[in-house]
Amino acid sequence: MSLQMPIDLAGGLQPAQRQLSESAYRQIDKELAKYPADQKQSAVMGALRIAQTEKGYVSPALEAEIAAYLDMAPMAVHEVATFYNMYDLAPAGRYKITVCTNLPCALRSGGQAAEYLKAKLGVGFNQTTDDGMFTLKEGECMGACGDSPVMLVNNHRMCSFMSNDRIDALLEELRVDAASKGDAHGRA
Ligand code: FES
Repeated sequence: MSLQMPIDLAGGLQPAQRQLSESAYRQIDKELAKYPADQKQSAVMGALRIAQTEKGYVSPALEAEIAAYLDMAPMAVHEVATFYNMYDLAPAGRYKITVCTNLPCALRSGGQAAEYLKAKLGVGFNQTTDDGMFTLKEGECMGACGDSPVMLVNNHRMCSFMSNDRIDALLEELRVDAASKGDAHGRA
């Protein structure tokens, strides 16, 4: 039996009040189609991801817009956005580097790798370098404890066994990548 149910496309803000594009709404509709019609809130993580991809970060206005579309309280959307660290609630640098410092990683140089990155970039957690290139985040377990130190680049690329030399190589690679693309602000 198909799980697909009719979707109420009339929900949410009027088009003139929306920040998200029609394309983003169609993507959210695809997320909605994965769940029963009376469980729209199940699509909230997908909706937040789509909003962040389009706008760069999840602002309070976007949280409210998603809440309206999914028939949720804005605070409920905010709770999800703040619980998972892949969502950015403020503008982030071109490359967001998230370092796992949970206990298993901390016991295997995860903390040392974080301190090395802080020193190399000249920023602390939740800060962005002056050139807008890197944002440093502290992350939760990424399911790769045996590969510590581990880090994620822009929520998608997992980097394992990150010694100081490998961190240096990663930063250089990302700088070269940014220079080759020429756009100082677009996310990779
Ligand atoms: S504790 Fe770091 S990946 Fe599991």
